[in-house]
Amino acid sequence: MNDQLTIALSKGRIYKDTLPLLEAAGIEPLEDPSKCRKLIIQTNQPNVRLLIVRATDAPTYVSHGAADLGVAGKDVLMEAPTDNLYELLDLEIAKCRLMVAGPKIAKPQGHQLKIATKYIKSARAYYASKGQQVDLIKLYGSMEIAPLIDLADKIVDLVDTGNTLKANGLVPEEHIAHISSRLIVNEHAYKTKFKQINDIVEKFKSAI
Ligand code: ATP
Ligand code: PRP
Repeated sequence: MNDQLTIALSKGRIYKDTLPLLEAAGIEPLEDPSKCRKLIIQTNQPNVRLLIVRATDAPTYVSHGAADLGVAGKDVLMEAPTDNLYELLDLEIAKCRLMVAGPKIAKPQGHQLKIATKYIKSARAYYASKGQQVDLIKLYGSMEIAPLIDLADKIVDLVDTGNTLKANGLVPEEHIAHISSRLIVNEHAYKTKFKQINDIVEKFKSAI
């Protein structure tokens, strides 16, 4: 039986915040991905390894079964196809809010509202729920620039402290969703490696 367990994690805040949970499950990485360029990190448990992936790619690795488990932000899960995966646990890490934000003094619009965002699916669903037609402009980052140079009227982005908005003269306007990171599992792996996975889930639960 293949008892190798592969966990997909992204390098930044998700890795940092997941470390204590892994530790509670007795899993300790043998190397620090922020200090080495390795993308597959072995752990003190010979049958458990970590894949260091882009945050937006974690659901893809898990849904294809290339990773058994993964950690992904709810913002990412709301955008990604989530075939063949279950959301097992709210890890209550990397908490923030998905919000509409705009310039302090809104400019008059002679056109349909233009929204710049990385979160096209969530923004579309949000405005549809309000019955409002908007033009969505896909960006991959630095969304805050868009209203400053008239690419868009507003943005839909993640907000935590609000410092990024403030530094760019924007203000939060509407709350769309509370965001935190989730433990996700491949459907097939959850059946075939149930005991191994459930053991980790229980230890994560006690540590949250
Ligand atoms: P990628 O690795 O694909 O470039 P990224 O740079 O967005 O993605 P992170 O910035 O580490 O990766 O974000 C990972 C997750 O952390 C996001 O999906 C979101 O759920 C959460 N997150 C993002 N920004 C914040 C924030 N300012 N405060 C708290 N949580 C956040
Ligand atoms: C995220 C998000 C916002 C910022 C919000 O960016 O895209 O820009 O955090 O946090 P704040 O409200 O505390 O300022 P991040 O720090 O992950 O940078 P990145 O988008 O360049 O990865």
